[in-house]
Amino acid sequence: MYTRGFILLRRLSTDSKNTKFFTTPIYYVNAKPHIGHLYSSLIADAAQRWQHVYQKSSFVKFSTGTDEHGSKIQQAAEKNNTTPDKYCDKISSEFQKMVSEFDINCTDFIRTSETRHKDTVAKLWRVLNDSNHIYLSKYEGWYCVSDETFLTESQLKEVTVEDGKKILVSEESGNPVEWSSEENYMFKLSAFQDDLNYWLKNNEDAIRPRKFHKILLDLINKDDGLQDLSVSRPTSRVQWGIPVPADPSQKVYVWLDALANYLTVSKYASDEVTFKKCWPPDVQVIGKDILKFHGIYWPAFLLAAKLELPKMIFCHSHWTVNSEKMSKSKGNVVCPIESAKKYTTDGMRYFLLREGVAHSDGNYSDIKVTRILNSELADTLGNLLSRCTGTALNPKQIFPKLKSDVLDEMKQIDVTKKLIDSVQKLPDTCRDYYIQLNFYKAVDSVIATLHVANLFFETLKPWELKKNPENHAKLDVALHLTLETLRISCILLQPIVPNLANVVLEKLNVPEDNRYFENVKTFSWNIKNSSEKPLKPEKVVLFKRILTEEDTKVKVKKGL
Ligand code: MSP
Repeated sequence: MYTRGFILLRRLSTDSKNTKFFTTPIYYVNAKPHIGHLYSSLIADAAQRWQHVYQKSSFVKFSTGTDEHGSKIQQAAEKNNTTPDKYCDKISSEFQKMVSEFDINCTDFIRTSETRHKDTVAKLWRVLNDSNHIYLSKYEGWYCVSDETFLTESQLKEVTVEDGKKILVSEESGNPVEWSSEENYMFKLSAFQDDLNYWLKNNEDAIRPRKFHKILLDLINKDDGLQDLSVSRPTSRVQWGIPVPADPSQKVYVWLDALANYLTVSKYASDEVTFKKCWPPDVQVIGKDILKFHGIYWPAFLLAAKLELPKMIFCHSHWTVNSEKMSKSKGNVVCPIESAKKYTTDGMRYFLLREGVAHSDGNYSDIKVTRILNSELADTLGNLLSRCTGTALNPKQIFPKLKSDVLDEMKQIDVTKKLIDSVQKLPDTCRDYYIQLNFYKAVDSVIATLHVANLFFETLKPWELKKNPENHAKLDVALHLTLETLRISCILLQPIVPNLANVVLEKLNVPEDNRYFENVKTFSWNIKNSSEKPLKPEKVVLFKRILTEEDTKVKVKKGL
């Protein structure tokens, strides 16, 4: 099992890597962006933002982009009466818009139609070819045009179509296949079965969550094991693609082309020093539908090219809409940009990262989005901020200082103890969840702490304390503890809702340089002789409640 290829690979790894490298899949330009695409991007973005918060001066590379070759794109362009390059420009710009609107903080947006990418694919092809991993073969088999792949008998099933005719389709995608015979270049995938098994069995983190690790192992060891893979298509079938070096009669298979994007952005073909600083990727985010390509083909290509494998492939499940699969024909595709008009971009970030769990499908519905955003962003977080920074309770607009004897006295109250305890545990709890990319649990912990802070506020009734000057030291403690809870919570929420967190941290006057994990390890109530600090004077409304249908009906009834 411990094969030569693997040992060799480890030996080649160097210590020059100093950059954390995160990737999203590159998006097909055969359709506009939807919330599923946004979700892949948000997971990677939150992961890389966490890296910045956690390690103040880390170097981070974060790539995303568009996948532009293949007959699907060619067909989409034809349908739209335009040329493939113009069509790609248009749809790619929509993905670029999604990236910028939702603050996906990428350091590189790659398009596979760029020259730098074509150079990378050509280099990778030559390396695979020169090391005898590619051979020319006459290939006969069942070809699925929509999936652009040959399939074995065991990957097919028979279905009956409208006119009662029986046809063969891909078991995985349901798309029809046809018998085809052509010359193809083949990649010796079968030679990597042991290496892939070794990699997976010895790397817990190779594929996360564990569910997908297991699915992949089953896939690799299914039936007769891995078959060699056709990695080119005749130019007569696919014109819109990258030519095979030294053989223009063939185009490089779209998945070999697409996967190489990760090498392009690392400057594999152009700058060895930069390449060594970032390779291998630390976290590669993918959806479950592309697990086979990233968990089998990709590591096999890398092993063949003697390149180190990604440290973690993070695979997420899919979003349904009102419990149905999203599809153009059903007309239920949710456009992120349209949704953000109602929920804001941070609202959408919050919902998808707070509700989505990687191991099972999530369901998107307007009712659910409204309920979660209203109760958590508007009420739990927003109201707490308004109350302790509003001029009614805080006319001087300050982060008041504490009198330690008053704090000690108030610690006798259960809810004060509970709040201090909850806030002090929060940073480490969140860190553990963020490291596992368990965003929903990280957010859940912050919200649980904010619930305690709201309860604390309700119990102490600062508006009552305000009435009597003798109680003003207690009022200061109430405000101080709540403001400190908000400071810590919002530093920890930065990867999820960067703009909302920024609004709160600005109001609290927290300098940009003090918004890191190291700044949530010290709690203001433990600092001796702390002084009073000013808040920023501007009034802020963090998140406006979204009107529900009920609200609208009431408004109409009242004639508002
Ligand atoms: N172009 C390939 C990826 C090549 S990467 C070298 C591709 N593109 S895609 O546009 O079809 O999908 C991109 C990502 O969006 C994938 O991670 C996919 O899982 C994700 N999603 C597509 N539909 C989705 C949902 N309904 N829900 C969540 N994510 C989904 O595949």
